Amino acid sequence: MPPGSRPIAHSAGDSERLWWRDGVIYQVYPRSFADSNGDGVGDLEGIRSRLDHLAWLGVAGIWISPFFPSPMKDFGYDVSDYCDVDPIFGSLSDFDRLLRDAHERGIRVILDFVPNHSSDQHPWFLEARASRTNPRRDWYVWRDPAPGGGPPNNWVAIFGGPAWEWDAATGQYYLHSFLREQPELNWRNPELERAMHAVLRFWLERGVDGFRIDVAHRIAKDPALRSNPLVPGSADPGYGGQLHVHDEDHPDVHALFRRMRALVDEYDERVLIGEVYLFDPARVAKYYGAGDELHQGFNFSLLSGAWSGERFRHEVERFHGAVPPQGWPNQVLSNHDVHRHATRYDHAELGEARARLAALLLLALRGTPFLYYGEEIGMRCVPIPEHRLRDPLAITLHPSLTRDPERTPMQWDETAHAGFSSAEPWLPIHADSTHRNVRAQRADAGSLLHLYRALIALRAAHPALSRGAQRTLPAPAGVFAFERARGGERFVAALNFGDEAAVASLGAGAPLSGLCSRHGAELPRDLAHVTLGPAEGVVLRVA
Ligand code: GLC
Repeated sequence: MPPGSRPIAHSAGDSERLWWRDGVIYQVYPRSFADSNGDGVGDLEGIRSRLDHLAWLGVAGIWISPFFPSPMKDFGYDVSDYCDVDPIFGSLSDFDRLLRDAHERGIRVILDFVPNHSSDQHPWFLEARASRTNPRRDWYVWRDPAPGGGPPNNWVAIFGGPAWEWDAATGQYYLHSFLREQPELNWRNPELERAMHAVLRFWLERGVDGFRIDVAHRIAKDPALRSNPLVPGSADPGYGGQLHVHDEDHPDVHALFRRMRALVDEYDERVLIGEVYLFDPARVAKYYGAGDELHQGFNFSLLSGAWSGERFRHEVERFHGAVPPQGWPNQVLSNHDVHRHATRYDHAELGEARARLAALLLLALRGTPFLYYGEEIGMRCVPIPEHRLRDPLAITLHPSLTRDPERTPMQWDETAHAGFSSAEPWLPIHADSTHRNVRAQRADAGSLLHLYRALIALRAAHPALSRGAQRTLPAPAGVFAFERARGGERFVAALNFGDEAAVASLGAGAPLSGLCSRHGAELPRDLAHVTLGPAEGVVLRVA
């Protein structure tokens, strides 16, 4: 049995508990979490050395962004070997040790599975491009030029330019949704599907607990590769100027996920969570199938948009309404592709209060919360000078589109390089790391870090919060109030997203216990008159 395999610590005394539904999942961006070998880039051994932080915080699982061998054109989302570890991150033995130590602490480990495209340096692609008759040719998507020349259709790459790259040696184009160094895999080829299933088994047998599936909605496209219609009236010649009816979300995708799910279900308690980057919850919901496809599709509706109680309520209700009854939603405010929410919602006076209220929102809602490393200490985005930009999106499309600011090193302590590394890190560290860091916040009972920990513990202790039903309550303008209930247990939350104080009426009686986003605040005595300061919220256990 490989070192990371079962059994792992199960939560005692709660036989109904399901880790990926009831617990909190924490995303680790491996380049930026902790560097054990002093090369300025994080690694697996670094993650292992920081597991105690994650155990102390109380997370049920971690999702690690790709650490597989890669030319790093898209920082690991261009995989050149699906079954190994890039030397910059360590080795397979490092991974086994990390998995074993995580499991020993009751922390599950989810890997990033990148099925839509490989690196152009993957041996499969090197073979495929060697000749038109190579047995692996059809593992990728090749086409002749359009009649009269030029790319086969009008599809454009998400990272800019046409989605087709001309291969002069074999006289055909190949398809890529992202960089030209990320050729699209052809899931209509049964051998390719078998090879990718073998990849899943490789990691499942090692003991991993599931996969976050990159670009899940694009692995099936129109088999006839028809051109997309244009957005009426749009002057955008790029991605935004097309209606993406043929290059993503093809109905055939569901059979692929049913087969993937059947495979994963051969193992106990493993999970598939899809990056279904479609902004219509009804379309995301289809990826749950009849409980036989993904366990979850990400709810990305809170990753952008205004700081507004009404908007948060609307988005949450919309997503909840779309997820089928046997499915389970999730909630996410930040990840490696968008600016951190503490920056998005920063405010001259209320910035810290807003970060605290956001924590309450994420951890009181129905749906598995996904935390992005560093959000537990309120890490902000780091402005990156142009000469230090690394993200291909910034380099190929526009510097302002860079995702580097949200990928900067974790701020562990006040020492040089914030305790992340002994060397200059691959991206700059925020100047605030001298005070905004894990060590300082652990020593301060009033810190955001302690608030996250307390909320995670509250959620873990009360099934009403972790897996209870949710119902919106009437609330004044700017306030999002809701009830969470299960069995005889009931909580109410009232979150004031306004910049002015507000008074919410949450029923009769006095709360039994609870938490306020403002440290040291007294809990309300009377649920009928709950006064909330600007950017303040409460979650209260009620009779
Ligand atoms: C996903 C990842 C993103 C990556 C892209 C291409 O959207 O989250 O970081 O660049 O896929 O793999």
